[in-house]
Amino acid sequence: MPYEPITPIAWRDGQVEMIDQTRLPGELVIIRPRTVEEMWDAIKKLKVRGAPAIGIAAALGLYLAIKDSRAGDRAEFEAELKQAAAYLASSRPTAVNIFWALKRVQQAVAAATTDDVSALKELVLKEALAIRDEDEAMCQAIGKNGAPLLQDAEAVLTHCNAGTLATARYGTALAPIYYLASRGKVLKVFADETRPLLQGARLTAWELHQAGIPVTLITDNMAAAVMARGWVQAVIVGADRITANGDVANKIGTYGVAILAREHGIPFYVAAPASTFDLSLSSGDQIPIEERDPAEVSHFGLRPTAPEGINIFNPAFDVTPHRYVTAIITERGIIRPPYKQNIARII
Ligand code: MRU
Repeated sequence: MPYEPITPIAWRDGQVEMIDQTRLPGELVIIRPRTVEEMWDAIKKLKVRGAPAIGIAAALGLYLAIKDSRAGDRAEFEAELKQAAAYLASSRPTAVNIFWALKRVQQAVAAATTDDVSALKELVLKEALAIRDEDEAMCQAIGKNGAPLLQDAEAVLTHCNAGTLATARYGTALAPIYYLASRGKVLKVFADETRPLLQGARLTAWELHQAGIPVTLITDNMAAAVMARGWVQAVIVGADRITANGDVANKIGTYGVAILAREHGIPFYVAAPASTFDLSLSSGDQIPIEERDPAEVSHFGLRPTAPEGINIFNPAFDVTPHRYVTAIITERGIIRPPYKQNIARII
């Protein structure tokens, strides 16, 4: 990689350390949630965000929940763990990585051969840190696997932030871009600003700029004009949940970008680890879509930009039907249509 990427979420000196992403790009502030409630709040308020990153945060949140547990035996401990997992799962509904990570930690405890509560506490931490480490490795593999798809492009367009900040490191959609840059092929990136919370402007533009990758920021309604001018040869985005038929939930606006890409004959790639697939759902209409505070739409920061009392619709995600997806890049390889068969084979 061309630079040492920042670490958005870490375990240091017995504490969780996370970049408060709501403060970027203005300030680089590190927060240290000490309780499960503080972690829940950080996830809910998008201080930590991006599907893989909130999975890691939720797993570490479980450790915060039980680290001072006074459970008298294993059954009591597992009941506390279950309660904390249900609480953390209530923070955000769309990204399946949260549920995947919480289940994985609980399963590790269930499979343990010890009944010693202190040893079980250590196991929770160990599993959470394994999820973090594996995510970094998966992102690197996604970078390597996706690079051949982009190597002939001069510029790509991305939506929201599926970069280092959204993962343990390197990102999903941005991983092939970092991978190619580390081998001397520097792509230009058009970053959609991504209304209403500006993950593209605040986070993608920030981290690419830090990494020395040329990034051009556009508002969401400029993507069609950029494509019409022939300025991008591919679109690459991340995902919050991918169903068995290849439908993709991702940040609101992704669906529109996919339609635009199809109209302009531009490939539309989705990059995501296996932990983002939810094979229990047959299609995207079953994915729960988070709706957030109307003030995110009616205000720009703290300033009102709409009449008071106006009706607001504020879904945080949309679903791109699989027919618009050219390929899904995973750490296990590239999945192409027909998705139903090929996802079942690879994931
Ligand atoms: O609401 P956010 O900022 O958590 O939404 C993030 C996205 O939609 C990302 O594209 C997705 O989680 C993939 S991150 C690798």
